[in-house]
Formats: sequence, structure tokens, C-alpha cells
Amino acid sequence: MTIDTGQPTSQEVTEPAQEEPRHIWRMVAIWAVLAVVLDLLFYFLVGPHVPPGDMTSAASENQDDFTILFLIALPVMIGVWVYMAYSIVIWRASRKGAPEPVGGPQARSNLGVQVGWIVTTTVIVLGLFVFGTVELVVNAGSGGGEGPNPIWTPTSASVLPVQVIAQQWKFTYRYPTFGGFESQQLVIPNGTTIAFHVTSLDVTHDFWAYQLSIKADANPQIDNVAYTTTRQAGSVTVRCDELCGLWHGAMFNYGSVVSKTAFNIWAKATERATAANTKLLPPFAWTYVPDANGADGGYYPDNVDPYSNSEVYGATPAKS
Ligand code: CUA
Repeated sequence: MTIDTGQPTSQEVTEPAQEEPRHIWRMVAIWAVLAVVLDLLFYFLVGPHVPPGDMTSAASENQDDFTILFLIALPVMIGVWVYMAYSIVIWRASRKGAPEPVGGPQARSNLGVQVGWIVTTTVIVLGLFVFGTVELVVNAGSGGGEGPNPIWTPTSASVLPVQVIAQQWKFTYRYPTFGGFESQQLVIPNGTTIAFHVTSLDVTHDFWAYQLSIKADANPQIDNVAYTTTRQAGSVTVRCDELCGLWHGAMFNYGSVVSKTAFNIWAKATERATAANTKLLPPFAWTYVPDANGADGGYYPDNVDPYSNSEVYGATPAKS
């Protein structure tokens, strides 16, 4: 492709050019080539690494959605950059001493450009609206908390319930199908649909298991359900993502997705090992009312037992 430098020759200055290049079509051609090449590069090189990865169904769907949005956005960005770069290169002021560039005829409007602009932007915005709405509806268990009665539920035959109990300032996990034991560590089996039941004992927290692409608010007295299906073993980072007090920044822990066999061994062993503690806990429920006297698990811990690892939620106050 030959590039017209756009610098007017002495001939062009004296008599207007008959052979002015079709700038618009040149820009369209450059844009089309760059858009296709960069979209393909993004799709194949970046797409598989887009956060949050593909450890669960929800994570994969998030990754696909982000990739699709980027594939649409990239050509728009390239369109702006190509126009800018083309203008700078082709219509720049000539080198020192050369005659000033001459402006073209006055252009008041261009129906094609106007209609094209309105149609293109309308199609993109309405398309994204439809895409976003459909993605929210069809992906049952999209990773966000759907409240106590989710409208879209997974189709899996078996779903493992895991309760996430947030409090200032830690997460604990309760396994109702294994005797209701509590764990400081989140362990879940691979290849399994998990129903996270997220609740809080005090203020509003937010359970954000990054690699699982699960993010659900933890509200006191609310059982907020979020579904996903695990697809890979690996480690998981859990963070609180709602400002919840002084040690909000320290409210995180780690978990893991392990094989079904390893999970069953762990769950049964932990159920046995913690049986004595489990007896002290209130019976399993979807929400809990914190201890009104403020000791262990109360709204305002009174440091009676600051090092306890097994808080006693809703325990009857000791007789004095
Ligand atoms: Cu809990 Cu922030």
C-alpha cells in the first residue's frame, strides 16, 4: 500500500487537486485490518487469561462475557485512534518553510456520517443492553447472591450446600450435610455444584471468593444464595468486599477446591474431629441471631474470650 504523504506540491496549491485520495475509505481499510488482527490476537492470546480464570462455571461465564465486551470495544477504540493517527500523519503542518496547508471546502453536514453514527452507536448500546440482560437471566448461578429464593437455579442433580458465616472480622464455613460442623477453612469438591448460603452475625460483609467468581453480600438475618459449579482443583482466595469496620482489610482467608474423594475424606474427618465443638454450636439454621449479651459472637465482643476459635453463636448467657 502506498501512503500519500498529503503534502501539497506546488502544483496542487495553484490548482485544486483532482486526484485527492479517498481518505475515508483509506481509514476504513486501515481500521478494518487493525480491528480484525487485534481482535483475533486478543481472543487467542489474552482471552484465556482474562480474570477471574475458569475455575468454576461462574468464572468461565464471567471470562466469556468480559472477552465478548472487549472484542466489541476494541474496534471502537481503534476507530478513534486510526482517525487521530491518520489526521496527525496526513494532515499535519508541513515542514518548516513549506507553504501553509490549505483547508478544503466548507462542509456543513454529511447525512451519511450522521446516520451511520446514530445507527452504529444505537446498535452497539442496545445490543449490549440485550446481551447483558440475557446473560444475567440464562446463567443460572451466575455467582452473585440471588437472595433467599433464587429465581434461576442450577439443573444439577445434586447440590452441595455450604454456609458462609461472616462476622467482624472473619469467615467461617458450615457444612449442613456433614452434621453441621464448622470450619475456618473453605474446602469444596471439584466437579460439583455448590450452593453458598451467605449470612452474617453482625454487620454487612461481602463474601468474595475470587477464583470461584462468587460474590455475595453477607447480611444479618438474610440467607443469600449463590451457585456455581467447580471445574478445576486449586486454591481460592476469600476476601470481605464490604467495608465492615476497623479490621475489614484483614478479613480474608483461603480455601481450596479438591477432588471429590479428598473432600469426602476431609469432611468426614473434620466432622469427627470437631464433634465436641459442634455440640456447643446452635443447631444449623439458615440465619443466626447473635448473642445479646455481647460475649462471643455478639455485636460488640467484650473480650471475654478474644482468642477463641469457636465462637458460641446464640449461646445462653452463663448464670452468674
Ligand atoms: Cu467484613 Cu469487610
